[in-house]
Order: sequence, then structure tokens, then C-alpha cells
Amino acid sequence: MTTLHVETGSANTAILGVGAYRASRLVPNADIVDAIDSSDEWIQQRSGIRTRRFADESETVVSMSVGAARVAVERAGIDMRQIDCVIVATVSHLMQTPSAATAIAHELGTDQAAAFDISAACAGFCHGVALANDMVRGGSARYALVIGVEKLSDITNPRDRGTAFIFADGAGAVVVGPSETPGIGPVVWGSDGEHYDHIRTPDWREVLASDEPHMPCLEMKGNEVFRWASFAMAKVAQQALDRAGVTADELDCFIPHQANNRITDAMARSMRLPPTVRIARDIIDAGNTSAASVPMALDRMMEEGDARSGDVALLIAFGAGLSYAAQVVVIP
Ligand code: COA
Repeated sequence: MTTLHVETGSANTAILGVGAYRASRLVPNADIVDAIDSSDEWIQQRSGIRTRRFADESETVVSMSVGAARVAVERAGIDMRQIDCVIVATVSHLMQTPSAATAIAHELGTDQAAAFDISAACAGFCHGVALANDMVRGGSARYALVIGVEKLSDITNPRDRGTAFIFADGAGAVVVGPSETPGIGPVVWGSDGEHYDHIRTPDWREVLASDEPHMPCLEMKGNEVFRWASFAMAKVAQQALDRAGVTADELDCFIPHQANNRITDAMARSMRLPPTVRIARDIIDAGNTSAASVPMALDRMMEEGDARSGDVALLIAFGAGLSYAAQVVVIP
């Protein structure tokens, strides 16, 4: 009987480089309140958001991804042609097929790389890091690029009071590769399909059956999502710490999905994070960029010196599905 040759990769992996692309249009609360009969004060109090960024016509899911990825690869100190796999987490690539990933890989000059999109909504980036980690450990990629990108302004109804002030645009990327020491802890991930309809876009058939042609925009049961995220996600975050053998005291940075500052506060309280832990607050002027929010917040903390090389950071992302994923990482 023939025995197949199998390969294994690197025993240890790490995030080697991080990059972000911030969309060009700064949109303060004042610009959106009229359409939803709201106020700057209400939005800040309920979400923490003061401004957000929307892409202009020329900025696309592909172009923003390319911008973030180029920075991440350069900072990883590798050549673009060394990337073996491009994983793109997004819900706002507006073509059913093909994926955004193959176009992004082509623009980046990594046509030799495997390239595919994953659909895990706001939790997509942390799912992508988990996949990349296992690929590098398993030997199917030496370097994997993970991109979280959204142009949610395309699929947000500016007159919907529950979503118009929350969602925004942008991209973030990381390179995952081999490392001398462990840099990515075990993933804690899962799903809760009982709440499949809590955050969703309508089925195309619903849209086509309506009188007016319109984009299928995001719909959200805000109260339900708020309760689920505030309570259930702190437990998942704690499990990710436990699986990595890290205590809250040993943590330097907490980088949750930038869903809503009140959810971040509730999680930090439930986990009893000491005041020494620096907490990502990118949402204040970036809004909720779904799959892009964790890598964008990570990039910002590194740029501003709040996350330093060797620091231990807890990442957690959660959203439509409902789906979630969390892992502890070492800052490159
Ligand atoms: N501006 C001003 N007032 C608003 C409003 C808006 N955009 N939306 C709702 N309101 C009002 C309602 O009319 C209601 O007024 P009333 O008490 O006089 O009847 C009041 O605010 C409460 O309405 P409700 O729909 O219960 O809002 P809420 O307290 O649940 O807050 C969210 C809405 C969206 C801020 C909140 O549900 C939330 O933060 N959810 C989580 C969303 C999130 O983070 N999603 C991302 C997950 S990936």
C-alpha cells in the first residue's frame, strides 16, 4: 500500500506585521442625525461613536484591502511573493461570486497564493487568524495574509435608526507566519444559530419581490444583540485567556470587536480587567467596521504606543450568525 507523504509546518506561529487603511470621508454624527431623528449626544451616549469614516466612490473593498495588506506585508519584513494564502473576511463584497480575495491577491501580485473569502461577519477576522494559525502550523502555508475589510456604507440604510449611526468602512490586515516562540494562542470559537436573524441582510428574493428596487441593507435587533454580546462574550474572552494560560493581570491589551463602547465596557467589567490593561477604543472615530474593526484597532494601538512589541493582547470578535472567535496574541 502506498503511504502518502504528509507535511507539517512551524511548531510556533505569530502575527508578524499589521496594517490598516482608513477610508477618506470623515463623517461626524452631525451629518447623519437628521435622517434618523437623533442627536450627537444620544449616539455618543449609546455607542461611544463621535465620527466614523465612509469610503468615497473610488475606495472599494478591494482597494482598501490592498492598502492595508501592503503595509502589513512590509512591516512583516517579507516579500509579497512569499504569501501562500490570502484570507479575506468581509460581508460587503457585493458580488456573490467570485470572491474579493482573488482580485485582492492579483492586485497585490500574489497570484500564486490560495485566495478565498470567509463569511463570519464581525467575527470574521478572528476566524481568519485561527485558520491562518492552523495553516502555518499544519504546513499548508508558510505565510498567510488575513484581511478584514468592509464598505458597510453600501449596505446601511441611512434612515434606519438602529444601524445608520453604527456602521462604517475600512480595512485591516495581518501577516501570520512562523515564529521561534508561541505568538498565537488557541482559538475559542463557536456559533449560536438560534439567533440567526438578529443581524442580517434580507434574502435577495425578498428584495426582488418588493415594489422599489433597493440594496439589501443590514437589519439588526439592537437590544437582543446588546444583551447577548455583553454577557455571553465575556465568558468566551475568559476562556481564550484560560486556554492560553494567561491571567487578566498578565494581559497588556484588550482589543475587542469595536461594536459599541458600552459592550466593551460591560465585557471589561465582567472579566474584572485591571486598570493596567489598555483597551481599544477605535470605535470613537472609526465607527463599527465589522470584520475590519479588530485589525484596525490593533494597528491604531500599535501606532499610538498603546500596544508595544511583546505585549500580550486578547482579541475577540462577534456578530451576525451569531458567531464569535477569540484568541490571545503577542504584539509583533
Ligand atoms: N436616535 C435617537 N433615539 C433613538 C434612536 C436613535 N438612533 N434609536 C432608538 N431611539 C429611541 C427609541 O425611540 C426609544 O425611545 P423611547 O424610550 O422614547 O420609546 C429609545 O431610544 C430606546 O429604543 P431602543 O430601540 O430600545 O434602543 P436601545 O436602547 O436598544 O438602543 C442601540 C439602540 C442600537 C444603541 C442598542 O440596542 C445597541 O447598542 N445595540 C447593540 C448594537 C451593536 O453594538 N451592534 C453591533 C454588533 S456587531
